Order: sequence, then C-alpha cells, then structure tokens
Amino acid sequence: MSVSPTTRKRVTTRRLIDMKAAGKAIACLTAYDAITAEILDTAGVDVLLVGDSVGNVIQGHDTTIPVTLEHMIYHTQAVVRVVEHALVVTDMPFMSYQVSPQEAFRNAGRLMKEAGSGAVKLEGGQRVLEAVRLMTENGIPVMGHLGLTPQSIHQFGSYKERGATPEEADEIRKDALALEAAGAFAIVLEKIPTALAAEITSIVSIPTIGIGAGPQCDGQILVWTDMMGMSTEFRPRFVRRYAELHDVMTTAVKHYVADVRGHTFPGPEESY
Ligand code: KIV
Repeated sequence: MSVSPTTRKRVTTRRLIDMKAAGKAIACLTAYDAITAEILDTAGVDVLLVGDSVGNVIQGHDTTIPVTLEHMIYHTQAVVRVVEHALVVTDMPFMSYQVSPQEAFRNAGRLMKEAGSGAVKLEGGQRVLEAVRLMTENGIPVMGHLGLTPQSIHQFGSYKERGATPEEADEIRKDALALEAAGAFAIVLEKIPTALAAEITSIVSIPTIGIGAGPQCDGQILVWTDMMGMSTEFRPRFVRRYAELHDVMTTAVKHYVADVRGHTFPGPEESY
C-alpha cells in the first residue's frame, strides 16, 4: 500500500476542490491529539477534522453538546503542532456560531488565530449562511455539514438517517447549494441516502465528504476510533473497522499487568 507522492504536499482547500475536479477521492479522519494526528498524517490522510465528536470519544459524553470553544482550541493546538501535510479543520462547537453571525465570525477567528486551524466546520444550511458568508468573505475557509447533524440531536430525537422523505431531501439539496453559494469549500454529508448524496455531489462544484452517505461522495470521513475498532459498543453500519484496537490494547495491558505482578517487568535490559 503506497501513498502517492502528490498527497504529500500540504493540502489546501483549493487542492481539495481540484481533487474533486480530477475525480481523486479525498480521505478524511478525525483527530484529537498529537500522537494520533502524527500517525494519520504520515499515513496520507488529506483532511484531519478536530471534530466535536471529541465530546463523545475523549470526554465520555453522550452527545457533542457539552463541548466548548476552549476544548476545541486545546485539541486543535495539539493536532496542529505535529501535522505536516493534512489540512486541519476544526469543528465549531454548539452555541459558538448560533447566537449571531458576528459572534460566529469572532469564534471562528479564534480557531484560526489561537489554535492554528486551516478551516472551520459548522452544522446547518440556510440558518448559518450569513455567518458562513462573513467568514468566507474575510479569509476563513468553511466546511459545511448537512444531514444528520449531531448538535441537533435533541431536536431530531434520534440518530436515524436524514433526507429519507422528499421534503427533507429537498431541504438538504437546497442547503448544499446555498452553502456553496455562500463560499463553503466542502460539505460533509452525514447519514443520508446514497442517491441523495450522489445527486448533491453532482450538482455542487465543491467536494462532498460522506459519512454514512454512500460511495459516490467526493471523499469519506470516519471517526478514527470507530474505524480502528476502539469501541465494543458503537458499531453503526457505516463504519468499516480496519483494526480491532480494543482487543489488541486489552490483550497488551493484560500482559503488562501479569508481568508487573510476576516481577518479570522490568528485566535487566529495561533497568539502569
Ligand atoms: O465531529 C465529528 O467527528 C464530525 C464528523 C463525524 C463528520 O463531525
């Protein structure tokens, strides 16, 4: 498995748009810390999203709602310190962009200036357009996020797929076109029907990044702990598990505990 040399250049938002035009699929993953970000970047991932899924994965919450802007700055700084190639995108957490476009703009500016992010992501279509416009007109690249938007979980009532009815599909379609018109450089499509994601991908000129949105999106994203099999419980259909790290790590830790208990660690070669 080789990583093509072209992916080793610093990835920019322009480059992602060019990749779509060239039919080259965009590989994205989440990252929340330096040691993981270094591995994912070295392995050739194009976009590292410091997702507000940090709330679930790292902080142990049931939803992304409790995540704050300070948390996102902290985790982005850790990722940005080690990444050499991927574009780092940071999620704007719940209530950091909903109050007013000006407040959204100021908070997005903090993610760029203090955290060093290369772009921000926010959830929603029509309702966030003014904020998106303000950011993109002032040098802040924005990635949209449509479909199952986890910050609206209490409004949706479940993590069920979105866009399955003609009305919902129409709204998502309109939102995608509106985000493109407002200057977004890419759109995440989460848990929507394959045919709808394919249609949106064909009508916008910016890349679509799918998660549970079928194979015809311009790129794919997964939460890195999901694709590495770190969780025993969370097994949604859209996740392909590329490793079973939960098992690997549990076995390793059991060996360590046994070695400590048996006084076989440290050995002479591990001592001074
Ligand atoms: O927060 C996150 O990890 C995300 C991706 C799953 C798209 O928004």
